[in-house]
Amino acid sequence: MDEALRNYIRAKCAEYRSDKLLPLVMPTFGEDEILEALDSMTSMQVTMGRKVRQFEQDFSDYLSSKYSTMVNSGSSANLLALSILSNPLVKNRIRAGDEIIVPAVTWSTTIFPAINIGARAVLVDVDEDYLLDIEKMKEMISEKTKAIMPVHLLGNVCDMGAISDLAEDHKLFLVEDTCEALGSEYGGKKAGTFSDISTFSFYFSHHITTIEGGMLCTSNFDCAELSKILRAHGYIRDSMKKQEYVDANPDIDPRFMFVNTGYNLRPTDLAGAFGLHQLKKLEGFISKRREIAAKLLAALKKYESYLVLPREKNGTRHSWFAFPLTVREGSPFTCKQLMAHLEKNGIETRPVVGGNLAEQPAFEHFDHKNGDLTNARYIMRNAFYFGIHPNIDDNAIGQVCLAFERFFSSLRK
Ligand SMILES: Cc1ncc(COP(=O)(O)O)c(C=O)c1O
Repeated sequence: MDEALRNYIRAKCAEYRSDKLLPLVMPTFGEDEILEALDSMTSMQVTMGRKVRQFEQDFSDYLSSKYSTMVNSGSSANLLALSILSNPLVKNRIRAGDEIIVPAVTWSTTIFPAINIGARAVLVDVDEDYLLDIEKMKEMISEKTKAIMPVHLLGNVCDMGAISDLAEDHKLFLVEDTCEALGSEYGGKKAGTFSDISTFSFYFSHHITTIEGGMLCTSNFDCAELSKILRAHGYIRDSMKKQEYVDANPDIDPRFMFVNTGYNLRPTDLAGAFGLHQLKKLEGFISKRREIAAKLLAALKKYESYLVLPREKNGTRHSWFAFPLTVREGSPFTCKQLMAHLEKNGIETRPVVGGNLAEQPAFEHFDHKNGDLTNARYIMRNAFYFGIHPNIDDNAIGQVCLAFERFFSSLRK
């Protein structure tokens, strides 16, 4: 029966077709993940439990980070990270009005948690690689600065050497938003291991998926302990020093003992089930993404006078979340025209995430500070990305390159 079920699921998964030549996202899960999730459901072990704990352990082993705490999204991981660093139990914690440096070009929920904890987001410009501009960041550090939140955007890695030095010199917390860069490396070390806390997303379009899901990693026991408590209700169920709380509060039923504030950011064990299998496939997925990126780079190199091509920086491993392009100033076409042409040819495009977030309407309502955001403004109007995922075959890559070819040859007419 098991084999019959496996074959049935495999056949159903193989039926999946996208109506696009190059969709933004293609599913990377199949019978392994579905059968594991089915096992959770049929054994009625559906809420956070054994499989989430095992996935957390496997994730820590993969990353070489001491502690991992799974949550229901990357956004939740970011909220949890800043909630920990602003918690009264943390020494020299972030307080209301303190400043947190973030890149202006990122996803909204890198920045919103700063606002949620009452801190002031300081939006700093990015460079040609869409990563925090170190020199401009230095100018924005003030006596109010308490943390830096670098984002490894689209799988490319920030200059963690320079950022770590700055954090150390100014005694700042470091939180790496690694939601788009699982498996990327800097100096042979995994992105997400350079900071006090790092965060990951397992949304459907990311390197691995638990459908929705995220992870918070840290090598600091106190941060890990708070992550377990704040993740779920502020109670001690997942505390790593539960007995201490129990001994200190003999009159309170330990089954419902609350020792801090908290949210409910828990994942289900179905998400854990997916994670267990997806993580085993991650290195294979990254190799495939890297191969595809190399082929695209080779084919598009001839348009470099019009387009800023993405690159893997020296001493890093890029994990190619997507393939971004910036249309250079003075090009005889607009970014909108190129995107429209690609969309017409079945290649799905998106802006480089939130563009310059300082220009998004949400920021009209909240206190924040902006540096000089010249590049972010340019990127918002002149850059876009299309998807890279492990399932793109050579035929699709060839057709994508042909679509570019047709666009550029139409310019010459
Ligand atoms: C850089 C970055 N941070 C945070 C998030 C939030 O992750 P999630 O969608 O899992 O909430 C994303 C989502 O794509 C992201 O790209």
